Amino acid sequence: MMISEALNAAMNRQIGNEFGASLQYVAIASHFAGEGLMQLAARFREQATEERDHALRFVKYIEDTGGGVAIPAIPAPRSEFATAADAVSHSLEQEKLVTRQINEIMALAVEEKDFAAQNFLNWFVSEQLEEVANMDNLLKVVRRAGEQNLVYVEAYVANQASRAVAEPGAAGAE
Ligand code: FEO
Repeated sequence: MMISEALNAAMNRQIGNEFGASLQYVAIASHFAGEGLMQLAARFREQATEERDHALRFVKYIEDTGGGVAIPAIPAPRSEFATAADAVSHSLEQEKLVTRQINEIMALAVEEKDFAAQNFLNWFVSEQLEEVANMDNLLKVVRRAGEQNLVYVEAYVANQASRAVAEPGAAGAE
């Protein structure tokens, strides 16, 4: 077994955190769908799929290193949001939390001189930077538009999605 017990346990917890983030984004997507904001709903549904994929990356890494996968209980996500800004701000806080979690796992991998784990985790370090930046930007746009003008945010999100198809790597093309 290439992975230490401590790192294995930390990654198992992170599988739970990533699945938890995925469920939170499904709940937020449904909130937006209920408000008739289908572009925002689609954006958060995609984000939910990405978080699920993040969980599966950890699953595969643990398998590859001969560890044991043990998926923890996933807490229920929040499903009530007063405003769009509330939902997006909750998402931003979640991304900041995940960033701290990834950093803690990286710190453990550094302490253990586990270079394979550091290499694996580097992808998540870059991904978190991008996700925090994108969510922070979306929150600014939502706040600037205001709750009465969320149709503008819908147009912005739709435009970002089409740019992401045209230019992979563009902002919003996670
Ligand atoms: Fe996988 Fe957005 O954290």
